[in-house]
Amino acid sequence: MSSDFAIEIRDLKKLFVTPFLRKTIPAVQGISLSVRKGEVFGFLGPNGAGKTTSIRIMMGLIARTSGSVKLFGEEVPARAARHRVGFLPEAPYFYDYLSVSELLDLTGRIFGMTGAQRRKRGDELIERVGLTHARKTPLRKYSKGMMQRAGIAQALMNDPDLVVCDEPMSGLDPLGRKLVRDILLDLKDKGKTVFFSSHILSDVEAVSDRVAIVVQGKVHDLGTPSELLAETGAGHKIIVGNTSESDEELFGQYETQVTPGNRLRVTTEQDDDIKDVLGLVEKNGLSVVEVTTRRQSLEDLFVERASAHHTIHAELRKSGQ
Ligand SMILES: Nc1ncnc2c1ncn2[C@@H]1O[C@H](COP(=O)(O)OP(=O)(O)OP(=O)(O)O)[C@@H](O)[C@H]1O
Ligand SMILES: [Mg+2]
Repeated sequence: MSSDFAIEIRDLKKLFVTPFLRKTIPAVQGISLSVRKGEVFGFLGPNGAGKTTSIRIMMGLIARTSGSVKLFGEEVPARAARHRVGFLPEAPYFYDYLSVSELLDLTGRIFGMTGAQRRKRGDELIERVGLTHARKTPLRKYSKGMMQRAGIAQALMNDPDLVVCDEPMSGLDPLGRKLVRDILLDLKDKGKTVFFSSHILSDVEAVSDRVAIVVQGKVHDLGTPSELLAETGAGHKIIVGNTSESDEELFGQYETQVTPGNRLRVTTEQDDDIKDVLGLVEKNGLSVVEVTTRRQSLEDLFVERASAHHTIHAELRKSGQ
C-alpha cells in the first residue's frame, strides 16, 4: 500500500540504559509526527532534546524502546524503502583517507549504481557542493565546512526521494549555508522530501514547510512557521489617526485601544486583517499614521521553549529529583 507520508513517527520512545552509572536517560519521550511526501520539515530543539536519537532510530542505526517509525509506509528497519533515503549524519565518520570522488564512488557502489552512473552523478554533485577544486584531496585534509559539503554530496548520491540531514548547516560559513538552503529548496522543487535538524533557526524558517520544536524528548510545537508564530503573539499594529471615541466600534472585531492625540491602535493577528482594517479606515474617512508588524521570529520561540526547559531542570535539581 502506498502512503502519502514519507515519514510517520508514532509515540516514539528511547530510553538509554547505562548500567555502569545505574542511570536511564529518557532521550525520546513519545514523539509523534508525520512528514508528507514533498515537504521540507525542520526538526528544531536545544542541545540534548533528542533530535539525533530520533534520527538514528529513523535510519535504523539504533533500536527504539517503543513506538513506531515508518519510511514510505514501511516499518523501520525499512529495508525496501531504505534505498530511497539519503542520510547526512551529525558527525560524518567517513573513511578519511578517501577523496570525495572515491567516497561518492563507494556510496554509489553500495546503492548498486553502475560505473557510468557513479561517475556522472559524482561529478555533478562535487560541482554542486563546490568541491571541484578539492576532488582528489583526502578528506582528512578537509576543513569542517568542506567535510560537511562532502557529507551532503554523499547523502544525495543515490538520488533519494527522502533526504534526512542531521544539522546540514553546521560548520558552514554564510555562503555554505546559502548553498545548503538552495540545495534543500532544489530538492523540494524536484518533489523530494527533506527532513533536517538545525540550530540555525533563520535557515529553518526560510526553507521549511513545517517545523517541530522538540524539547526534552517531546514535541512542544508543530506547524508551519507562520502558524507557530501566530500562536506566540506575532501580530500587526495599525495606528489610526483622526479618530473620535465612537470610532472604536468600527473596528469591533479587533483588539483596539484609544491612545492620546485622537488616535486608535488596532491590533490584528492575521496578515489578511491588515487589508480589512485599512479598508475600514478609508471607508470612514480616517487616516493611517503607522502600520507595524510585531513578528516574533522562530528564534524567539525557540529560546522561550529552551529556557522553559532549563527552568524545569533547575527546579527538578532544587527539589532533588
Ligand atoms: N548512546 C547514548 N547513551 C546514553 N545517552 C545518550 C546516548 N546518545 C544520546 N544520549 C542522551 O540522549 C539525550 C538526547 O541526545 P541527542 O543526541 O538525541 O540530542 P540532540 O537533540 O541531537 O542534541 P544536539 O542538538 O546537541 O545535537 C541526551 O541527554 C544525550 O546525553
Ligand atoms: Mg544532535
